[in-house]
Amino acid sequence: MTSSSLFRTKKVEHSIEGTEESEHRLRKTLSALDLTVFGVGVIIGTGIFVLTGQVAKENAGPSVAIAFAVAGVVCALAALCYAEFASTVPVAGSAYTFSYTSLGELPAWIIGWDLVLEFALGTAVVAVGWSGYIRSLLDNAGWTLPEVIAGRDGATGFGFDLLAALLVLLLTVVLVVGMKLSARITSAVVAIKVGVVLLVIVAGAFLVKAENFTPFIPESVPQEAGDGLHAPLIQLIFGFAPANFGALGIFTAASVVFFAFIGFDVVATAAEETRNPQRDMPRGILGSLAICTALYVLVSVVVTGMQRYTELSVDAPLAEAFKANGHPFFAGVISFGAAVGLITVCMILLLGQTRVFFAMSRDGLLPRFFSRVHPRFKTPYRPTILLGVVIAVAAGFTRLSELAELVNIGTLFAFVVVALSVLILRRTRPDLPRAFRTPWVPVLPVVSVLASLWLMLNLPAETWIRFGVWMALGVVVYFAYGRRRSLLAPGRDPGSGGASS
Ligand code: ALA
Repeated sequence: MTSSSLFRTKKVEHSIEGTEESEHRLRKTLSALDLTVFGVGVIIGTGIFVLTGQVAKENAGPSVAIAFAVAGVVCALAALCYAEFASTVPVAGSAYTFSYTSLGELPAWIIGWDLVLEFALGTAVVAVGWSGYIRSLLDNAGWTLPEVIAGRDGATGFGFDLLAALLVLLLTVVLVVGMKLSARITSAVVAIKVGVVLLVIVAGAFLVKAENFTPFIPESVPQEAGDGLHAPLIQLIFGFAPANFGALGIFTAASVVFFAFIGFDVVATAAEETRNPQRDMPRGILGSLAICTALYVLVSVVVTGMQRYTELSVDAPLAEAFKANGHPFFAGVISFGAAVGLITVCMILLLGQTRVFFAMSRDGLLPRFFSRVHPRFKTPYRPTILLGVVIAVAAGFTRLSELAELVNIGTLFAFVVVALSVLILRRTRPDLPRAFRTPWVPVLPVVSVLASLWLMLNLPAETWIRFGVWMALGVVVYFAYGRRRSLLAPGRDPGSGGASS
């Protein structure tokens, strides 16, 4: 139905039909196992390999393991909502598509814009993390890159992270050439990455010292005075003096290590390329999430047991903990595995990003030019190339930690919208077949919304400000372009697959 309403919705059947037009069709090649590998491939990354040390040292001590469990529960709640949507609306675009069918066009645009932020910055963050590991391996071999091409931390204050940018460009080429190729590369790399994580858990378990776990939850300590914007919003709202550690520190830590779970939602963006989305999507999403949560809790227990939290490295905590225990060989293997493993994370975030952009352009909210698939490779090559280049430049100039928090707030916001959408679509379209139904509706989606909001409130006030600016910009773009050019706008033909702008 065309309408001028901000809340005009796209019919679910129409979303699915849109994917059947040959010029705009993606290949259906993925199975449940592919999706699980895909999920683990993107989920395990900078979060566990880098943020664990930083968060244990600055926010939570050994209780970072509890923070991982808390973040895992929040994600599991969201995953149960995602799985219902992904199995009902198997169309590229993830939460964007889901909300278009349930909440309406403006909310869908907002969520799509938000997902672009999540995936683009997430890709950049991981590329920079990867570059750090490569540089540390190069340093071990006696090669040091000139500061000007070694990232932002050079003494001159200027630096372009050449390795990070090159990685993004290389992966862009891989994605343009085709999904199957990327899935194959992913499988090999995931095996190495999971192997390294298991090595940390098993070998590290023999090096744990019980005294490192005392205190398990360190006493709360005040944050250094600043402008207050670094403090979690929740502490400012309730007038607490900003503090680290203690019980509240666990939640601050959870809101940061949440980054380690980002990616299971990306699995949902591949619904359209899945052979049997109704059955395989929920399996892929929940399976990969369960595996990762177990590994994270075990890794964080082992690492904080191997080395006192105050002494953990913030750059390469897993490898350094082994070095500190006199095992440099293991440290080298772990650094190598991390460097290899981060490649798939980067690639899949980039993939998720291009698919959301593709779906938005197919709906006319972004120029239709971007929704043509490649005649031979059947991939959305235009947005892939455009975004790949933009992200490569961003990765070159990016700083890690603050951007990770921005990615988190964007993702949590998407979780809120998805959970609300489950509730709304159950009311507006109870007739739709749902291969997977979220259990305990409405309680579970409501708890999911509250849990995601709670983690958002534990992010710094400055992160909220940046997020607000990005979203405000998105609303301006919608009213200036998407609202008039949408295929649902009056005078546009929603059934036209060939329309172009
Ligand atoms: N979960 C991914 C990571 O930790 C984004 O790198």
